[in-house]
Amino acid sequence: MGIRLAIANQKGGVGKTTVSMGLAGVLAEEGERVLLIDMDQQGNLSSVFIDNIHMVQPTIADVLIRDADIRQTIRTTAFSGIDILPANLDLANLDSALAGDDDAQFYLIESLQEVLAEYSFMLIDCPPNLSRATRMALVAAQGLIIPIECQEWAVKGSAQLENYIDRVNRRANPGLKILGYVINKYDARRSLESSYNRVLRETFPNKMFASEFNNNVQYTESATLRMPINFYAPHSRQADCFRRFAREVRDHVKKEQIA
Ligand SMILES: Nc1ncnc2c1ncn2[C@@H]1O[C@H](COP(=O)(O)OP(=O)(O)OP(=O)(O)O)[C@@H](O)[C@H]1O
Ligand SMILES: [Mg+2]
Repeated sequence: MGIRLAIANQKGGVGKTTVSMGLAGVLAEEGERVLLIDMDQQGNLSSVFIDNIHMVQPTIADVLIRDADIRQTIRTTAFSGIDILPANLDLANLDSALAGDDDAQFYLIESLQEVLAEYSFMLIDCPPNLSRATRMALVAAQGLIIPIECQEWAVKGSAQLENYIDRVNRRANPGLKILGYVINKYDARRSLESSYNRVLRETFPNKMFASEFNNNVQYTESATLRMPINFYAPHSRQADCFRRFAREVRDHVKKEQIA
């Protein structure tokens, strides 16, 4: 049964899509069946795997708004073991189309139920806000991965996010666990960043992944050349970092008794 993980942070550009894509790559390399779910109307994740994403139909918006068949919306990718439920700007209609619909937060998990048995992992890439799309993702997920940068904002922003998670936990999804925060774009040579690194690890002693992703141009290149990092640069430190991270994710999934 697919382990459902959301990758979320309301701050933009922290690496949600990079982590979704990199993790999918290494899990597929290990023989897992991964479904990537793009919940961001920017369609960044989808555009890595699909040409002309803004022309694509049907998308996840059709599934969530118009109850389209999820199997006909999921696409295979060039990478064995990775399928994707794509998004594009059509997802911008989500809020207006479902306004006043109290059940809407459950629509993603309800749709995913149908294909749950076909995947070992489902990774949900969230948009940079706490909108309805993020809500649906957090209601559908069992675990949450939160990419952060070592900046002053990280600790403050995480309090707001944890409040939001508490609210989701109260009724809609009591089972949702924070799997952990993962530091991204880290530059240890900057003393301010290493001091925020320490602050984060003191603030969240049990919730930080040991893995850290350095600021490295290969991550951007792999997105631009539309390949997960382990396919783009299989022998690089960057790819190995994602392999280590995947092991940690598996450990945290076990520890939180998700699987
Ligand atoms: N470790 C890294 N080193 C260098 N560049 C990175 C790293 N991680 C991400 N980037 C680059 O930073 C930019 C933002 O990353 P990404 O798109 O993954 O963030 P995001 O949180 O998904 O953004 P958004 O909030 O817009 O969805 C991208 O250009 C990406 O290639
Ligand atoms: Mg993104």
